[in-house]
Amino acid sequence: MPRVSAAFFFTAAMCLLVGMLWGIHMGASENMTTMPAHAHLNLLGWVTLSIYGTFYALTRASLSQKLAWANYIISTLGIVILIPSLALFLSHGNDPAYIPVMGVGEVLSVIGLLVFAVSAARELKRAAA
Ligand code: HEM
Repeated sequence: MPRVSAAFFFTAAMCLLVGMLWGIHMGASENMTTMPAHAHLNLLGWVTLSIYGTFYALTRASLSQKLAWANYIISTLGIVILIPSLALFLSHGNDPAYIPVMGVGEVLSVIGLLVFAVSAARELKRAAA
């Protein structure tokens, strides 16, 4: 397995660990205020990063290391910025002060996806050749 895929899977597992503990805490405290942040940590962190990692493992013979690592770094940074700021936004009564920080995490998450799309398009082009 390429190192970049292992990095994606390790980070995904850490996100799921935090997401599960977060979910358990929400359930135990019966306080669902931060539920959307829990859901996005699990979906962007566990599900999306795992899919990225699987793609690079499947295309290991032809992947661009630069694109794959850029995908990993940008997408991980997006999650690290978006999820805490979303949780703070929600737990402070939807305080708009957190929106600019959330915006940075959102933009990074989209850029990470665009880098992944370039990797996928590159593979599509290669497979057609
Ligand atoms: C130990 C594991 C988990 C626990 C204890 C847990 C707990 C919870 C709780 C208590 C809620 C709020 C439910 C409600 O009030 O409607 C919730 C919502 C949610 N969780 Fe988790 N969760 C876990 C894992 C996951 C995973 C792995 C994912 C996704 C991959 C996920 C995605 C979601 C989503 C999308 C919602 C929102 C559901 C809605 O809008 O009704 N959760 N979770």
